[in-house]
This record gives sequence, structure tokens and C-alpha cells, in this order.
Amino acid sequence: MNKKILVIHGPNLNLLGIREPGIYGSCTLDEINKEIKAIGDNKKIACEIFQSSHEGEIVDKIGATDANGILINPAAYTHTSIAIRDAVSAKKIPVVEVHLSNIYAREEFRHKSVIAPVANGQISGFGKNSYLLGMTALIRLL
Ligand code: DQA
Repeated sequence: MNKKILVIHGPNLNLLGIREPGIYGSCTLDEINKEIKAIGDNKKIACEIFQSSHEGEIVDKIGATDANGILINPAAYTHTSIAIRDAVSAKKIPVVEVHLSNIYAREEFRHKSVIAPVANGQISGFGKNSYLLGMTALIRLL
């Protein structure tokens, strides 16, 4: 394994499976992580997976990582966090933003991502497949 991807799950994503399953699906975070890792293993790419509900921890993680690319679901911080945006922008490695739900089909405050302009791209609305599609897209950028 010579390349590495950092996968970041933002606030409340640890509650997947029990949190609003009508919106986010019934898969747990562990189940999604296993599928992400399987994609990495298949391509001989190591995956470090990190979940935090704390903005500063996510900023620090991005700043310190030696990964070659980042797959991130910033969750609610998508819409508010200039600090995470600046961390992504400073890093100069490929970053793919993903969302389980289609943020553009939901409340207006979710329509804006402050992260998307500094990411390579965004995948939104395909449930857990957003992560799997995001992995494939990110691997192609590495
Ligand atoms: C989310 C969408 C965000 O608006 C929300 O705050 C989340 C999850 C998604 O994956 O659909 O926590 O990022």
C-alpha cells in the first residue's frame, strides 16, 4: 500500500442507522466504513477513517494528515465552517465532498456548501453510495 486516503465523517454521522433513517438510510457508519475500506483494499490504497463532531479536531486532522487525498462528509459543517474550508484549501491534495442526502432538495440553509468551491468535486444524494462513488472519483485523482 503506497497511497493513503483520509476519510472524514463530521458531526452526528456516528449516529447513522438510528438518526433520521428516512433521510440518511438504515446503514450504520461501521457498515459504510467496511465498504469504503474494501474499495481501498481492492486498489491497494490504505484508508484512515476519522469521525468527529468537533470542528477544531477536523481542522487539526486535515492539517496534520500525510494522506494523498481526502474523502469528507463535513455534515452540518458543510454549510458553516470557513475553518474546515481553509484547512482543505491549504492542504493542496485532492478532496472529494460527499453527502448521503441530496442537500439541494432539502431546507434552503443546506443548499450552500462553503467547502465545495475548494474541493475537487461533490457527490450528494445517493445514500451510502455517495461515499462509494466518492472513493472511486478520489482514487482516479490520485
Ligand atoms: C449531510 C447533510 C448535511 O446537511 C447534514 O447536516 C448532515 C449530513 C448528508 O450526508 O446528507 O449531517 O452531510
